Amino acid sequence: MIKLPKLDLYQDRINNFLQEKINQLPVNDPKLLEAMEYGLLIGGKRMRPYLAYITAETLNVSLDDVDGIAAALECIHAYSLLHDELPAMDNDDLRRGKPTCHIMFDEATAILAGDSLQTLAFDIIANHNFSDKVKTKQICLIQQLAKASGYQGMCGGQALDLSATNKLISLQDLETLHSLKTGALLQASVLMTAECSLEVSSSHKQALALFAQLIGLAYQVRDDIIDITSTEDQLGKPAGSDLAANKSTYPSLLGLDGAQKKADDLFSQSLQALATLPYNTQNLEKFATFIVNRTH
Ligand code: IPE
Ligand code: IPE
Ligand code: MG
Ligand code: MG
Ligand code: MG
Repeated sequence: MIKLPKLDLYQDRINNFLQEKINQLPVNDPKLLEAMEYGLLIGGKRMRPYLAYITAETLNVSLDDVDGIAAALECIHAYSLLHDELPAMDNDDLRRGKPTCHIMFDEATAILAGDSLQTLAFDIIANHNFSDKVKTKQICLIQQLAKASGYQGMCGGQALDLSATNKLISLQDLETLHSLKTGALLQASVLMTAECSLEVSSSHKQALALFAQLIGLAYQVRDDIIDITSTEDQLGKPAGSDLAANKSTYPSLLGLDGAQKKADDLFSQSLQALATLPYNTQNLEKFATFIVNRTH
């Protein structure tokens, strides 16, 4: 398994930053706060923050600026998972090797913890101590986060996922579904970070956007594969959950080999997009390699 450079360092960095944000909140409702902390800080690979930090290194963007972006994205991701595993959605009882939030607490608390993490994301990005040059981009960053998270991004994709359940859909529709529910936030990790640089040209931003779109899609293709090929122990979440729920996935449409071929094609295309950039993109390449080979 490929080792991602500085993974521990960036995981620690974002975990400490997020822990501080939670610690700063007043304890109005201890149970809700505990559920938020549970959803945000117990485990998780921190792939969206990691991608933001390595993009920052690639483009010479300040990591202190990216802390606000990485934290906001991880809060949205954590909220999306708390709602994704609810009985009304995937009805899963295990995540990151632990009971899901609604099992550990209760459904109402898991819903509210998700809601509160979503607004915490916007609180963090609106109040982050950005450097002067990035302060001028703050509204644009908030717009990008809102678009990637809501109707035009993750939530829209989750809705398509639910309506595609128990149904055969076209490959084109599956691609749209995956790109929205999972691709949008991963793409935002790259694009919001690129927004912090005044030097990246618009054509280079387009190449970064294409790279991020391709690996964002590949992330979910691989998630659907490992739902079948990995064990519950490896995943820390139930294996076979998509099959049991009769979800539309690449393996269900193309078979396992076809799905992995799709992931590999996306990987090759993502490297082509990177090849057009005048930066040292080695770590972004490693990230793409990791995505299409990951087993958890
Ligand atoms: C799981 O995301 C849900 C998807 C969008 C595929 P991750 O694989 O990033 O889950 P954690 O955060 O590491 O638990
Ligand atoms: C989740 O996709 C995407 C989200 C927006 C949360 P999945 O439903 O496949 O994620 P897991 O497998 O539960 O982590
Ligand atoms: Mg789901
Ligand atoms: Mg799920
Ligand atoms: Mg899944």
